[in-house]
Amino acid sequence: MSGSAMQVRKMTGGCGAEITGIDVKRLSNSEWDGVRNAFAEHGVIFFRDQELTPEQHLDFARRWAPIDINRFFTAVDGYPEIAEVRKEKTQTKNIGGHWHTDHSYDQVPAMGSLLLARELPEEGGDTLFANMYRAYETLSDGLKNMLLGLRAVHSSRHVFGAGAAYKATDLKSAFKGEDQVGDAVHPVVIRHPLSGRPALFVNASFTTHFEGWSVEDSKPLLEHLYRHAARPEFTCRFRWAPGSLAFWDNRATWHLAVNDYQGERRLMHRITVAGCELQAAA
Ligand code: SIN
Repeated sequence: MSGSAMQVRKMTGGCGAEITGIDVKRLSNSEWDGVRNAFAEHGVIFFRDQELTPEQHLDFARRWAPIDINRFFTAVDGYPEIAEVRKEKTQTKNIGGHWHTDHSYDQVPAMGSLLLARELPEEGGDTLFANMYRAYETLSDGLKNMLLGLRAVHSSRHVFGAGAAYKATDLKSAFKGEDQVGDAVHPVVIRHPLSGRPALFVNASFTTHFEGWSVEDSKPLLEHLYRHAARPEFTCRFRWAPGSLAFWDNRATWHLAVNDYQGERRLMHRITVAGCELQAAA
């Protein structure tokens, strides 16, 4: 990258890369190419000290794809395209505290989410990511082959619907759209739209069962996959500071927001950008 101070440094052997030496508001063409390549290669990319207004956050998001507004999250005042990921001092539950990938309950799942740190607790509130290419590649050949023939049902009903998980917690006022819940069916192993590589596409928060299998029959295999995919060697952990920005690929990673800051406030702004219908790896 001639004339640029940009550097891409892997976070761990598992996933993720931190990009330094750039300002996402003013990227040269070669920096933009480098950022896109890093996103395709590492699944999640992190930037520090990006002082972005909501408009600048939206401008950077739109460089990737049109915005896919989340219909369940409360929006930032005056910015319907920016979702608030908020935990108040008095709340005990956090948003996204279990492994998941955003919008897998949609038939066209979002490409990714750009999360910007606005207010952070003194300590804690990190986010973990896990690599779904590695999760698939490291299964035994017999299981890999069986999974290639399966599709799974994903749903938002049990999370955002009337009487569902979040509704029973002190986070209930953070969500809306309980009449807009629905289901989607995706291949269990997808051909990743950017890299062409096979990736595991089930997650503990939204996947309910394999298509044609009962929930009960699906559970043991899904739980095995969840335990496998969350192995520490496939993960990275990001420690936020004000102005930190992460952009993750929902088709290549899972994420989990660590809830270890009781009694403190954390406020993040999330913009989710549109993806495409997912194809099976084989
Ligand atoms: C999310 O699950 O989208 C939020 C992650 C976080 O707050 O760290």
